[in-house]
Amino acid sequence: MSETSPKPTIAMDDLMALCKRRGFIYQASEIYGGIQGFWDYGPLGAQLKKNLRDAWWQDVVMNPCQGMAGPDGNPVRIVPVDTCIIQNPKVWEASGHVAGFNDPMVDCRESKARYRADHLMCLGEKGDTSGQIYAYVDNDDKSYATARKKLDKYKKRALSDAEIDTCPLTSLSADELKVTVGPDASEAGTLTEPRAFNLMFDTYPGPIRDEANKAYLRPETAQGIFINFKNVIDTTRVKVPFGIAQTGKAFRNEVTPRNFTFRSREFEQMEVEFFCHPSEAKDWYAFWRDWRMSWWKSLGLAGDNLILREHDKDELAHYAKEGAGTSDVEYRFPFTAPRFGELEGIAHRSNFDLKAHQNHPASTVKLEYFDQERNERYLPDCIEPSAGLDRGVLASLCEAYTPDESRPSKVFMKFHPRLAPIKAAVFPLVNKDGMPEVGEKLAADLRKRFGHLGAIEFDPKQNIGKRYARMDEAGCPFCFTIDGDSLTDQTVTVRERDTLAQERVSLDRAAAYVAEKLGLG
Ligand code: GAP
Repeated sequence: MSETSPKPTIAMDDLMALCKRRGFIYQASEIYGGIQGFWDYGPLGAQLKKNLRDAWWQDVVMNPCQGMAGPDGNPVRIVPVDTCIIQNPKVWEASGHVAGFNDPMVDCRESKARYRADHLMCLGEKGDTSGQIYAYVDNDDKSYATARKKLDKYKKRALSDAEIDTCPLTSLSADELKVTVGPDASEAGTLTEPRAFNLMFDTYPGPIRDEANKAYLRPETAQGIFINFKNVIDTTRVKVPFGIAQTGKAFRNEVTPRNFTFRSREFEQMEVEFFCHPSEAKDWYAFWRDWRMSWWKSLGLAGDNLILREHDKDELAHYAKEGAGTSDVEYRFPFTAPRFGELEGIAHRSNFDLKAHQNHPASTVKLEYFDQERNERYLPDCIEPSAGLDRGVLASLCEAYTPDESRPSKVFMKFHPRLAPIKAAVFPLVNKDGMPEVGEKLAADLRKRFGHLGAIEFDPKQNIGKRYARMDEAGCPFCFTIDGDSLTDQTVTVRERDTLAQERVSLDRAAAYVAEKLGLG
């Protein structure tokens, strides 16, 4: 297969089963039957997620853009913050989220299912204005096939594609909605009219649960950055252009959480708000867009599964500056294939947020920046690369999943070594004759050197094939095996996950071997 040819699509059920079996991701509250839209990370998943977050923190915040100069030729400057999930609710009034962070929602009175109105499509026979219309979930082949079957049954014959009309549910009139059959309904007219549904979770800090005490769980980490813009300027030596970064949880009461962790109600974001002079914003936007794309590629999301897509005009978010661009880095997930799903959005937010917070009647500070070099006071424009950590983890899991019939595990996880949750494993061939002691010492040495990057597994039991199989499914790049010879010649066999190549290295070179392969020199 060539480098650029798409990987064969994997079955999500197989990946989800592996995630459960090996402890990457569990359904949240599983022992109580779960809770829709929430996921817990197990031991391997927690480390995988941390490794991706750490890679972002290192390459974006600590060594901004991996040392690449910005479009002005200077090093890129970024500082971190860690702000609260719950803020004064006026933050969300100013940002536009109270009034405008809505999805159109449709309920089915028969099946009790709830849908995003903008995710529903309809089909019916062309020219038949009084006949029934059948709704289905867009991009869901099964739902489409069910709707077609129901239409054929109603018409008592198999209609050809040419005889069928399709349209978005949101374009139907009230009368047409009355004859529409929902995706999970048997009767017509059970779908409600679409109505706006605010996606923010509310909560009531303090003992009184009334409207005056209502607050929200943040739906994005970005606003915590904007409201601290002046604090950061006043307490550090940063100068525009510079960025403020943070990672953390965000919460959205998604109408239809689905596709594993892709659309969850609780998820983590990794966001930068990069402030610059308006005259330079276009250049910074292009810089961030291209660098973010190359960063995801550097972590192994390469080839045809990753694209950079410029938004159409009608897709722009309320804060995005028209004409200046918004792009998405998108990955071809198995459930979106052959289409793509968003991993990260890079938006030109102009000065929308700083202006909104400055102009809110309850806010107390001016957010204008005095630029000493230009001798000018202005509200900086903002370029926002906003990535989803959980979606990054999911894309990394999908990309890593590699079927291989020749292995006992039939599949291995080909994680980029930087992301692999277990960096190396140490196996005494048998659990006696001094081998466990040598293995334990090697594992301890490797832990001292690489423990901050991931786990070092020490496993003295079971037959060696089963131990390799477990590590293949965990995506561990290197397994060291201690055998009888190790005791006399102080060497071990190292097995490489991807090539299955085995070579003999001396015990005291094992750490250097791993360091070199991990690119740590
Ligand atoms: N501050 C801008 C912002 O929040 P967004 O496109 O709504 O923009 C940014 O979200 C990223 O957060 C997305 O690209 C996606 O990776 C992730 N994200 C958004 N909603 C999500 C959800 N319900 N579940 C998982 N990840 C989500």
